[in-house]
Amino acid sequence: MSNLKWWQTALFYQIYPRSFADANADGIGDFAGITAKLDYLKDLGIDAIWLSPHFPSPNWDCGYDISDYCDVAPEYGTLEDFKAFLHEAHARNIKVILDLVLNHTSDEHPWFLESKSSRDNPKADWYVWVDTPPNNWQSCFDGDAWTYVPERDQYYYHYFMKQQPDLNWRNPQVKQAMWQAVRFWLDLGVDGYRLDAIGTIYEDPALTPHAVPMNLAQLRRFSETARTPQEIALKNRYWHDMFKHQWGQPELHDLMKELRAILDEYDGDRMLVGEDDDIAYMGNGNDELHLVFNFPLMRVERITPVHIRKNQQQRLARLDALPVRGWACNTLGNHDTSRIYSHYADGQHDAELARLNAALVLTLRGTPFLYNGEEIGMQDYIITDPSKLRDTMATWYYNALINDLKVDPAEAALRAGEMSRDKNRTPMQWSPLPNAGFCPPHVTPWLPVHPNHAEGVNVKEQLDNPDSMLTYYKRLIHVRKNTPALLMGEYKPLHLKAKEYFAFLRYTEQQTVLVVLNYSVTHYELTFRVPGKKQARVLFSSAGRSKRDQPLSKVSLGPFEVLIAELF
Ligand code: NOJ
Repeated sequence: MSNLKWWQTALFYQIYPRSFADANADGIGDFAGITAKLDYLKDLGIDAIWLSPHFPSPNWDCGYDISDYCDVAPEYGTLEDFKAFLHEAHARNIKVILDLVLNHTSDEHPWFLESKSSRDNPKADWYVWVDTPPNNWQSCFDGDAWTYVPERDQYYYHYFMKQQPDLNWRNPQVKQAMWQAVRFWLDLGVDGYRLDAIGTIYEDPALTPHAVPMNLAQLRRFSETARTPQEIALKNRYWHDMFKHQWGQPELHDLMKELRAILDEYDGDRMLVGEDDDIAYMGNGNDELHLVFNFPLMRVERITPVHIRKNQQQRLARLDALPVRGWACNTLGNHDTSRIYSHYADGQHDAELARLNAALVLTLRGTPFLYNGEEIGMQDYIITDPSKLRDTMATWYYNALINDLKVDPAEAALRAGEMSRDKNRTPMQWSPLPNAGFCPPHVTPWLPVHPNHAEGVNVKEQLDNPDSMLTYYKRLIHVRKNTPALLMGEYKPLHLKAKEYFAFLRYTEQQTVLVVLNYSVTHYELTFRVPGKKQARVLFSSAGRSKRDQPLSKVSLGPFEVLIAELF
């Protein structure tokens, strides 16, 4: 189609393995389950899978605490099961990228067990050790960032939970060991990596303390109760200031270059996407990461036309300014955030807004990433019984609220449930059966299934329903795939002052496409002036508009309508 790389035109789909499909009836998703669903993904129109961690792990942080980088967690299957999955995905022309957690390992990883065993073992310097806590740094998950180990009579540093000790990346042996793991999966044929939390890999060598007059629990609590614009601004500043010495160090660029060089040794355009929004991690556009996520698009309470326009203006200008032009990458949800359907809801037009936002991600310039379940409109399911929480960060917060901040237990349970990432990690809803077809009815799934699986929020009932969210996604994806301007075209916003709808062009030399997303109940008759174009031929309309042409001088747009039209 063009000289674009596969990852530029691909539609990515994030699979959270624990919650996707359980083939062996233990209440936990697995590779056999994922493999059995590949035809579903192909039919949906997916080109690439981002697999959240599938490695052995004690699961303090749901797999992001890895105890062996070169194997498969037994609950997900064996290495052979992984290979079979990869083979079957590739056979369907679906690429697979893995999650690569560089900043930390599990505290049960043999590297850490050895490192903590004495001050003079061969891996003594593989983690960040100090004699006494040198500052007031916080772990962003569970309070103090320094944890004591009696064997060494020393403390180690952890940006995340204490079960996730930070590796000392200034030690070359650490790099070599990790690069071996990177090669292990590339040799097996995986197509790239999503890089976890790269910003946190190095810390300020001067160990400068933070100057926020609170600890983590107090800051979380303050964030929940902040209401006025001043309080909200202060909260945002505090979050930044509390952690600013613990991430974003300049050495990271050399590290990313080193990693990129390894990927470039392989054929097949292997790729890296960073869990970071900083375009600086794309280097000169061709020597660090291929993609970074456009997180500023999603980190708002409400998606509005004004916000989208500003976001695109800022992001695209920076990408365009790179020596080798950068490629955009958009997403609105993942395993760490509220589900799109819940996050951007207004309580009145939730379904309409979810559909608009799906269309947004699938039509903006750049590579889109979807999160499993989004395509059937899965919603957050807040767990109010603290004993059922699996996200241990939330359990920690619950205890801190009760014990340190003396918050009423009922309120603490609600707050913990709301902040917990369990709500957006509940099992995929395949059918209206008990346990939503994720696992057999007699089995207890690792997290409760959202009850709305019995009310139509499931794959089985949506598949043949022309009005379902799933059909809507499939139609949109089909239009995207068959419209070169949407896959690779330039972007030009139109009607820059409109507050309730967002209109833009995507265009190549051969094709010009108009996209209009109406974020309001208003019915519009819009006039667009596009040089050389007079008519709009509807490619997609969520209002069921017929494929008849409309004059560009009078384009009708219904309430909450998504309109995609080719201009001629
Ligand atoms: C970012 C991951 O997305 C999140 O789930 C995890 O808890 C942290 N990094 C730590 O690895």
